Amino acid sequence: MEIQSCLSDDVLGVDSGPDDQHLFGGIWTCIKLEALEKYLVAFNTALSRQNFKRIYIDAFAGTGRCEIKIDGETRSIDGSARRALGIAPAFHEFCFIELRTRKLEALRALKDEHPGKTVELIQGDANAALRTLCGRYQWRNERAVLFLDPFGMHVEWTTLEAIAKTGAIDVWYLFPYAGLYRQAAKDAGALDADKEASLTRLLGTDEWREAFYDKKRQTDLFGGDSGDERHVDHREMLDFVSERLKKLFPAVTSPKVLYQGRDAKSQGGAPLFALYFAASNPRPAAHGLATRIAKDILDTL
Ligand SMILES: C[S@@+](CC[C@H](N)C(=O)[O-])C[C@H]1O[C@@H](n2cnc3c(N)ncnc32)[C@H](O)[C@@H]1O
Repeated sequence: MEIQSCLSDDVLGVDSGPDDQHLFGGIWTCIKLEALEKYLVAFNTALSRQNFKRIYIDAFAGTGRCEIKIDGETRSIDGSARRALGIAPAFHEFCFIELRTRKLEALRALKDEHPGKTVELIQGDANAALRTLCGRYQWRNERAVLFLDPFGMHVEWTTLEAIAKTGAIDVWYLFPYAGLYRQAAKDAGALDADKEASLTRLLGTDEWREAFYDKKRQTDLFGGDSGDERHVDHREMLDFVSERLKKLFPAVTSPKVLYQGRDAKSQGGAPLFALYFAASNPRPAAHGLATRIAKDILDTL
């Protein structure tokens, strides 16, 4: 099997595909969706005997279908929103957030296929919409699963803070690993103010600068200062991300790294994404169970 769209703009965060399609996926798309779907079933099963209102939030919802390219062949598979609507036991409410108008129309058609289900569609930026949603409930009688599946570095740290504060939302976050190390270039001279700001928005601190960069070991030909360079490798950068997430959420799994290449699991290819699960419930019994389930799922992928 050969993945075609490796490190394409779509993978790295440039939303360049046709407005009503998703020409972005590869085998990693199947893996993340499989993990999500398994968790949604386990979550609803585990909470089905309790009185919580169960909510599914898809913050980068797409259309409900994904076009993926494997072995040069395009296949169409069910996307996250469609899968969430199909699982049993079912959620009580669904909230799909999508920026693009034509994708939202596809979601409206998907909603119409499920007249018995309560589906809210929100058009707009996921960060703003999520912060509003987090403030809408008391989160005493509600429990939610949130899927963060951006094309690139679109999830702001302040949004994660609002999510963690609810104490009631479980999160699957497809972290843009390639986006991170491409943006945090080896040579600090390649960083500009925009790149620095987007890294700080993503990580919620500017401490990445000190953690990732150091003075170049060699001075330039004339003995002058030749600036800073990144001294940490990809893995160490991801460790920094994991530590940041652990400061915010009571429980965070080790990330499942998805690579460029044949099966998305072999370390020979460039790392593309890191799939995290994070639970915001501060009760050890609740986040313990959630992370055990998520870890089991991640281990079997
Ligand atoms: C990787 S796709 C999501 C795929 C979807 N989870 C699925 O499985 O079918 C990312 C989606 O986020 C949308 N998007 C991009 N920027 C966004 C933003 N700031 N807020 C909300 N949606 C956004 C894109 O239009 C695209 O549909």
